Amino acid sequence: MKKHILVVPGDGIGQEVTVVGKKALEKIAAKFGHDFTYDEALMGHVAIEATGDPLPAESLEKMRASDAILFGAVGHAKYDNDPHAKVRPEQGLLKMRKELGLFANLRPIKLFDELLGASSIKPEILKGADILFFRELTGDVYFGERGRLNEGKTAYDTMIYSKYEVERIARKAFDAAMTRGKKLMSVDKANVLESSRLWRETVLEVAQDYPEVELEHQFIDAAAMLLIKDPKRFDVVVTGNIFGDILTDEASQIAGSMGMLASASVGESTGVYEPIHGSGHDIAGKGVANPMASVLSAALLLGISFGLKAESEALINAIDGVLKAGWRTRDIADKTTPADKILGTDAIGKEILDRI
Ligand SMILES: NC(=O)c1ccc[n+]([C@@H]2O[C@H](COP(=O)([O-])OP(=O)(O)OC[C@H]3O[C@@H](n4cnc5c(N)ncnc54)[C@H](O)[C@@H]3O)[C@@H](O)[C@H]2O)c1
Repeated sequence: MKKHILVVPGDGIGQEVTVVGKKALEKIAAKFGHDFTYDEALMGHVAIEATGDPLPAESLEKMRASDAILFGAVGHAKYDNDPHAKVRPEQGLLKMRKELGLFANLRPIKLFDELLGASSIKPEILKGADILFFRELTGDVYFGERGRLNEGKTAYDTMIYSKYEVERIARKAFDAAMTRGKKLMSVDKANVLESSRLWRETVLEVAQDYPEVELEHQFIDAAAMLLIKDPKRFDVVVTGNIFGDILTDEASQIAGSMGMLASASVGESTGVYEPIHGSGHDIAGKGVANPMASVLSAALLLGISFGLKAESEALINAIDGVLKAGWRTRDIADKTTPADKILGTDAIGKEILDRI
């Protein structure tokens, strides 16, 4: 298969882990006889430094010209602590989602058995949990009108959804539910928020087309509690942008670490595949970041954008092999991990590549 992949490492540990994700794709291409070509583009803090723009036109053009995008993370401490910064790395992220029409963010949450001990949740509650989140990505309070009143002493952000936005993500989630356990949980706050009432109404309408799927509604506060109490109760979950943002970070604890979770953002054109973690200021440059989420992002890229199931599984199996052999990065090590089994980014990357 001939495909063109754009690599966008971004900032901080994004740069470190994406190197491993790209090498994994190269190894897959060599092993399975594919012809993948690559290009690279700037985004985030590195792009602001180079051009003044967190998503320069040239990067966006390269994104549009590619078949899939392997993304790292954007963000820099200097903006996090400066609420007045006019240009920010995250603006690049939001613009990319809008420009590429990436309205659905898929986050599979599945725990490798070897990591049962690395989570802060009891193993017996966790074992067997397998959740697929659909987070809406281009609407909600992140994109509604915002501003300041009262000489800056009052601030507002508007939570806004249109019916078509809810409908298209609901359809993707129902479709996925049909290929899994035929169960879908829709999460909202319909007891309080008008936008959530439209959300629920619309999901109920879409449900008419999927009579086989058992649909359940939960309020966000209850869903957050249930996720920790009984994660096995969840199968496919669909929710809005901000609820999904929070809920999926919470769910990352099921997988033991942010460093183990990948996500796919898909919609109208090129799909973007990235770890769910950010640029990790606290560990950036130390060579200790876990690259597994980037390799798992590459696996999602192969499976979703290119339909290459065996290739995708080969990457997941390689990671499984590394974990079974006892190798860990710092974030997924526990009290029982011998010190000589804890590796840095490059060394564990090599263990993964050797097993592909
Ligand atoms: N999609 C994105 O690009 C994205 C997502 C989230 C946060 N951010 C940005 O990233 C920056 C840092 O944010 P944060 O600290 O809240 O979140 P973060 O995900 O970068 O880090 C949270 C914690 O998890 C650890 N961690 C994350 N990824 C890891 C990995 N691969 N291996 C080992 N440990 C890992 C970090 O060391 C940190 O302690 C901020 O500027 C934020 O805006 C970007």
